[in-house]
Amino acid sequence: MNNEVKDLIKQKLDIVDIIGEYVTLIPAGSNYKALSPFRSEKSPSFIVSPELQIYKDFGGDKAGDIFQFIMDIEGVEFREALQILSEKSGISLQSVSGDKSPYKENNKKILLNILQDSAKIYHSILVHPIHGEKGRQYLYERGLTDELIELFSIGLAPQNYQTLTKRLITKYSPSDIESTGMGIQGQQNHLYDRFRGRIMIPIQDTLGRVVGFTGRILPEYDDGQMGKYVNSPQTSTYDKSKVLFGLSQAKIAIKTHKRVILVEGQMDVIMSHKAGVKEVVAVSGTALSEYHITALMRYTDQFLLAFDNDSAGIAACLRSAALITQKGGVVKVIYIEGGKDAADLVRENPQLWEKAIEKAEDFIEYYLNHIVANIKSENIPAKNKALQQLIQWIQVINDPIAKNYYTKKLADLLNMSEKDIYTQMKTDIKSYNTDTVEKPIDSASVRLQKHIIAYLLYKPENRDILILEQSLFTQSILRELFIKIRDYCTAKSPKTLSLAECKAFVSDSEYSILEELLLPIFYQIEQMQSSEEQIQQSIQETIHLLKTQYQSSVRKALLKKLKEAKKAGDNDKVQEILEKYKIFTKNTR
Ligand code: CTP
Ligand code: MN
Repeated sequence: MNNEVKDLIKQKLDIVDIIGEYVTLIPAGSNYKALSPFRSEKSPSFIVSPELQIYKDFGGDKAGDIFQFIMDIEGVEFREALQILSEKSGISLQSVSGDKSPYKENNKKILLNILQDSAKIYHSILVHPIHGEKGRQYLYERGLTDELIELFSIGLAPQNYQTLTKRLITKYSPSDIESTGMGIQGQQNHLYDRFRGRIMIPIQDTLGRVVGFTGRILPEYDDGQMGKYVNSPQTSTYDKSKVLFGLSQAKIAIKTHKRVILVEGQMDVIMSHKAGVKEVVAVSGTALSEYHITALMRYTDQFLLAFDNDSAGIAACLRSAALITQKGGVVKVIYIEGGKDAADLVRENPQLWEKAIEKAEDFIEYYLNHIVANIKSENIPAKNKALQQLIQWIQVINDPIAKNYYTKKLADLLNMSEKDIYTQMKTDIKSYNTDTVEKPIDSASVRLQKHIIAYLLYKPENRDILILEQSLFTQSILRELFIKIRDYCTAKSPKTLSLAECKAFVSDSEYSILEELLLPIFYQIEQMQSSEEQIQQSIQETIHLLKTQYQSSVRKALLKKLKEAKKAGDNDKVQEILEKYKIFTKNTR
């Protein structure tokens, strides 16, 4: 039955309209092109074909029809994509089939309606001049504004057993209400409200639909018996390990700022908006999951963590940093002093939060400066234990230069040899491995390296590429490839270079990498119908980016060494590093 509906929906909807809601499409011949919504890129390699009604992301691996696109961009399963597109097309799932599944879809819709209605009811109570006064007072004292209350549709659940359920029951069945988690069946089948005496914060999915709530107790009703926060139970609409609080309000900002800030609480997210920092999300009463990370990686690979500074927060930070790094993300940590959180900072002064973000440190720097440094120097076992934990993080780093650098550093600090550390990594590696094995995601720098090699194949005479320093290629296999192709091109000056020609001077494994590299980029250049000038410009941009990234990583490494040498009072070393630094900056200017 799905195929029947699927076809009807496809006839009704145009892929250009659907994708056009998410990205800006530019006509390119008979196709459209855009910057990939799944990766960050400078020149568009995302193609939409109105004729075939498909899209393809030439720089990544995503391709398919409108259903696949919705699944990819919204991170939903097929059923839900079907639901979303059936609504857009006006073709009802029910009208087409007698299958049982439409009932399920329909039921989900009812549950979502109940949740949406609940949010509206709670919100209307909060903004009511009399009934909402205490709630508003509490929120204003915490620094919230009416704008924030609107933006997050915040509401109030009075200290009463049937405020919500009494109203919902006029429209919905008790069992549906119970299924949403908003009502609980008591004795004699009486339905009563789950949330009472609380500020109600709706939790929305990426499409902005309410899927659950978190309720913060109002201080006057806090007898210490009830939790400060109560969340909706796990339901068919609300899966804690998948939802990220604030994502629907943060999506655009994450894309424009090319980073996401992870905070611990909903209040932190809300208050961050007050400071104008909108690229913030929080997990709700659970640990950061792989699913969360994958969902965020669709928007950015730059993660800033702002967790509490207690032992639970530090452990969560280390664990999250390892997971993110493993998935190819880059982690920085925002350190907040004095046991405060983001909401506290913004309430005190929004600039304090902005400043804290500006000072975000690389994960390892944060760890050494704030965790290891805080352990008393005579407590060697505790220091060692803390450092040992770092191994978990270092071993999943993708970038070999960074990995080497941190391993060396850790070896020094632990008074161990690098080899010992690597051995330990091998035995530890299982600890963060997960059941689903995923292909490692390239770091931005590795992607650039691949692009440049592909460009060289496309334009074997390009001087700008031929004169590049081979050390820019940080992955040994890419470096080898670059050297071989460069040497061949320099010697023979071919006008074009076919894959077949390369076969003569590269190894089999190198050849398979070439295939993987060359084809997508050829497609891309062809599909774009780019002019010579545009190609040249893309090459320049790519080279520039790669150099900048390389330089900043070398500079950082040198500055760190310098700091250490100074600390150790090793003047010869300081001179030596300064000399190196001078030569380096001179050469790279
Ligand atoms: N949390 C929870 N259940 C609790 C306590 C906390 O689900 N009983 C979650 C909430 O999402 C909360 C986050 O953990 O926002 C962080 O907890 P905490 O630091 O105690 O809360 P704050 O956000 O600082 O809460 P507030 O500022 O409102 O006191
Ligand atoms: Mn707080």
